Amino acid sequence: MMAGEALRRTTIWEPSVYFTLGNESFHFAGHDISIRESMDTYGALIWPGAIALCQFLENNQQQMCLMDKAVLEIGAGTGLLSIVASLLGAWVTATDLPDILPNLTFNLTRNTRGRCRYSPQAVALTWGRDLERDFPHHSYRYDYVLAADVVYHHGCLEELLETMRHFCRPGSRTTLLWANKVRFQADLSFSERFQSCFSATLLLELPQQGVRIYKATASRE
Ligand SMILES: C[S@@+](CC[C@H](N)C(=O)[O-])C[C@H]1O[C@@H](n2cnc3c(N)ncnc32)[C@H](O)[C@@H]1O
Repeated sequence: MMAGEALRRTTIWEPSVYFTLGNESFHFAGHDISIRESMDTYGALIWPGAIALCQFLENNQQQMCLMDKAVLEIGAGTGLLSIVASLLGAWVTATDLPDILPNLTFNLTRNTRGRCRYSPQAVALTWGRDLERDFPHHSYRYDYVLAADVVYHHGCLEELLETMRHFCRPGSRTTLLWANKVRFQADLSFSERFQSCFSATLLLELPQQGVRIYKATASRE
């Protein structure tokens, strides 16, 4: 093959979707947001549930007013949702596995410094582990618990549910907002368990993205 022909062949294919490697940009709550991503772990990528819940919170600020509210995010990943909650005026604790915290902290800091009423904190929280020791319910009460795409291919669904129940218990007056893309049959089974554990309502379904957003409170309130 001649050099010119090889060159022509290599220029035939062109990507139709462009991705700025390592950074994703958004505009929510009146601010440009830049998120550093990486292919290293699931927690360093932005998932559709987070984007859907950010959009929902921005569009429904009267119904879900986060101003001066205490907000906990579990499985925060890159931090996009916690950043938007902070920009909407909430006092945010973003949690995830210890390994995820450096990138989470980086994204929180660069997108909220000087822009928010309260600086968000990044804290390690492994689902189901030492919850009462690290977050005793008599001292930690949140108005909202946020969870985006925390149900996917992993073996910690019981621990996830236990964590949700720890923070959203009878008498806590905590509202849990859970957004998830439905991918597998197991996701639907978890939705059924979730709905039997809490007083839950389907707030929004986005058929194109396959994402559902649920609102839940403790059953016996
Ligand atoms: C699919 S990612 C979603 C990330 C982010 N919420 C989003 O929607 O972009 C799931 C997140 O849950 C976290 N996670 C998985 N298992 C966990 C566990 N056992 N305890 C705490 N976090 C966990 C992962 O580290 C990851 O950040």
